[in-house]
Amino acid sequence: MTDYAGPLRLGVNIDHVATVRNARGGDNPDPTRAAQIAQAAGADGITAHLREDRRHIRDEDIERLMDALSVPLNFEMAATEEMQQIALRHKPHAVCIVPEKREERTTEGGLEVAREENKLAHYIAPLREAGCRVSIFIAADKRQIEAAHRIGAEVIELHTGAYCDAHAEGDFETRDAELKALTEMATFAHSLGLEVHAGHGLTYDCVSPVAALPEVMELNIGHFLIGEAIFLGLEPAIHEMRRVMDAARA
Ligand code: PXP
Repeated sequence: MTDYAGPLRLGVNIDHVATVRNARGGDNPDPTRAAQIAQAAGADGITAHLREDRRHIRDEDIERLMDALSVPLNFEMAATEEMQQIALRHKPHAVCIVPEKREERTTEGGLEVAREENKLAHYIAPLREAGCRVSIFIAADKRQIEAAHRIGAEVIELHTGAYCDAHAEGDFETRDAELKALTEMATFAHSLGLEVHAGHGLTYDCVSPVAALPEVMELNIGHFLIGEAIFLGLEPAIHEMRRVMDAARA
């Protein structure tokens, strides 16, 4: 069983530093440098998603991040053979399995675990044997959580995108329903012994109710923080997110 209402960790996703770099080619801005600044600013971990199409993070970024960081790397990837080989080569602290579609702008939904249970159980076994903590990115859905538990995942990350979108659109009925589902499913997952993380679309404005959920141990936040860094700098943007998260937790 994981700790209950322990300190809330902040994982900073640096994918979109690479998005800006790749818009022009070349080396700037450097996602590894961003990760080092995030680490110095108090990030508890760094998240990077190596997509099949390499639209932001590239293979050499993962290599450099593994060398440069002292905080854990959470390596996000689709459940493909290629990604499994890369993960087994680098053995990051954690591997977060996400669904991936080439045509999507971002990871739109959670992974379908229940229908792919056997396949995923075999897929994650070598990753666990290699010492990676396996996390599954899923919707706040009981069936999917039970399946993630059965396949031997240690962590689930709840997809907060629908909650954040409803908040941003001012659709408070949907927002509250999404938050209720996140609340109930965080409790349910914790009761199974899963460590609960959450992320996607979180901003200063909508992070507090999620940060306040006592079973949630880690938030992974990227796009908004990298956007804020344009105006404030990365370090102050992370400090402000930390402040808002800590206030909600207290
Ligand atoms: N967690 C997971 C599993 C993700 O796929 C993403 C987006 O890459 C995030 C968190 C961060 O989402 P955002 O960039 O919207 O903060």
